[in-house]
Amino acid sequence: MARLDVTETFHHISFPGHIHTQDSLNYACHFKFQDRDTVIATYPKSGTTWMQEIVTLVKNRGDPQLSKTVPNWARAPWLEQYYSAKVLGATQGPRIITTHLPYNLLASALQGSKAKVIYVARNPKDVVVSYYHFHKMAKFLPEPNSFDEFLDSFLEGSVSYGSWFDHVKGWTKQAEVLANVLYVSYEDMWLDLRGSMEKISAFLQCPLAGEELTSSLRHCSFSSMRDNAMVNYTLVPQEIMDHSKGKFMRKGKIGDWRNTFREDQICLFDTVYSYQMQDCPLTFLWEC
Ligand code: A3P
Repeated sequence: MARLDVTETFHHISFPGHIHTQDSLNYACHFKFQDRDTVIATYPKSGTTWMQEIVTLVKNRGDPQLSKTVPNWARAPWLEQYYSAKVLGATQGPRIITTHLPYNLLASALQGSKAKVIYVARNPKDVVVSYYHFHKMAKFLPEPNSFDEFLDSFLEGSVSYGSWFDHVKGWTKQAEVLANVLYVSYEDMWLDLRGSMEKISAFLQCPLAGEELTSSLRHCSFSSMRDNAMVNYTLVPQEIMDHSKGKFMRKGKIGDWRNTFREDQICLFDTVYSYQMQDCPLTFLWEC
């Protein structure tokens, strides 16, 4: 079988070549957003799938029909992947669009647009651990060696989708100044899903109450999503995602990094983090 872990380099960032092409990446950068679009922007492993589920439920007023019958990549397609022109071009009405692209690559496409953007970020120690495990099961990403090596690549920004620091700083700066960009953290959702859901639904001008909210909360809990084949990626063939190597819905916790990081790795991480984030007011909850 042909190797899946080829990379496509675009604007100095590596993307999994199996699912991205120069054409699809260019298409994304020149995309015509519509005012009624909802865009979910994330760095990988930050709660993308969770937000896809939340937005689907909010838009459907807590009715889980779509969440239970249509895979997440079909109801909230990735803007930059090879199928996007075909799928997004054919979608009538308000679209939910997902992207892992950094802000600078979408800046001109989003300029002047009233599309609503939700940016989700997660504390990067949990991101890097989650990403490391994901590299073991996702065959379109390079097989990782040690966590040591992976951590180095993550901190220098040479992993797929580029630097976490640039991604988070680029998008959250927009959330500070633009009313149509909402910043939500994974940790806030984890600690207070109800409050986060209320905030998200108000932002989407689709406020939920009563049973609509209760139903939405139930269907986007970790256990419900773990057992939902439409979001747990078990529909993806084994040769693309090998579930014997790990689960997509792995742990879903805050602070799991403690089980992986050694003291020297914490020290290295904290040094790079302080340097990279010195100009960024963002704070994260690292454990609870
Ligand atoms: P872990 O690997 O730490 O378990 P993404 O969708 O951006 O790839 O992020 C995947 C991460 O989000 C995984 O983290 C996954 O378990 C977690 N996740 C997905 N849905 C969740 C939920 N409902 N509650 C908590 N964590 C969730």
